[in-house]
Amino acid sequence: MQDLAGKVAFITGGASGIGLAMADAFADSGMKLVIADVDTEALAAVAQRFRGRNVPVLTLELDVTDRVAFAAAADRAYAEFGAVHVLCNNAGVYRGGTLDRVTYEDWDWVLGVNVGGVVNGIQTLLPRMRDQGEGGHIVNTASMAGLSAGAGLGVYNASKYAVVGLSEALRADLVPHGIGVSVLCPGMVRTGILESERNRPAERAADDPAAELAAREHNAFMQAMMASGIDADDVARVVLEGVRENRFWLLSHPEMKPMVEARSAELLAAFGEPDPQRLATLQQVLTRLQPGS
Ligand code: NAI
Repeated sequence: MQDLAGKVAFITGGASGIGLAMADAFADSGMKLVIADVDTEALAAVAQRFRGRNVPVLTLELDVTDRVAFAAAADRAYAEFGAVHVLCNNAGVYRGGTLDRVTYEDWDWVLGVNVGGVVNGIQTLLPRMRDQGEGGHIVNTASMAGLSAGAGLGVYNASKYAVVGLSEALRADLVPHGIGVSVLCPGMVRTGILESERNRPAERAADDPAAELAAREHNAFMQAMMASGIDADDVARVVLEGVRENRFWLLSHPEMKPMVEARSAELLAAFGEPDPQRLATLQQVLTRLQPGS
């Protein structure tokens, strides 16, 4: 989507961090904004910020795990602007801790927002975007944690690997509709992500001292890592360019390439030598499934 001026971006988790930086970048390109977030206070500040710049903006209080509310948010966006051209499924939360310590509530909360939120965004808005027949673009925010896993990251890893996988399938599914797909995989970015508990609903509280301690210790380590983090604006520039150029992989941390190389090398080394006949048959099938290959 080379020309973004006058088009509409719908951004979940847009009241803070990477989502807000995307909103800034899209507004600078002349887009209209729908910003949906669970944090009402932050939303009010964001509404003021964009109205002060004369950017057409609709802010919506939305918990992305709430499907009924998501449909109502989509209705409001279409009533206000008549279309959505760029959907950014970006809302996300973080909870660390080794898998022998985390709780069902940790799993339900993180998978609910990070995977369920993306699923709900696609289920709610994709049919409308497809039927509006103007093409478009979907950006799903995953993470480097969707490409490489490590100790204490298991719940978050599971959520972000899921986002990468569904984005790869979505890219293939949407080729006939002229809707591009990107998956955003940043490393550390200085945002509010390590304070995700601020948005944790009471019914998803961990309520387990051992899990709490493990999460707190892990967070102290992540806070130290955050010192190496980049600005959200730098990530937003990658997103803007990716939407314009229809790039699938949106990567903002080249220094993390060795991690993915190490994982890929181990994976590739685990394959045996293929039977040529079976290889040829499979390749024929795969070209139909993966247009990018
Ligand atoms: P952030 O905490 O600054 O922003 C996240 C936003 O999502 C907040 O405005 C929050 O209110 C909103 N949110 C949380 N739960 C929600 C829910 N149920 N419904 C609607 N909105 C909700 O954090 P950041 O870093 O900007 O996070 C954005 C995305 O980037 C997330 O998906 C995160 O996993 C991902 N990410 C962040 C990295 C980082 O180092 N900051 C690295 C890689 C990925």
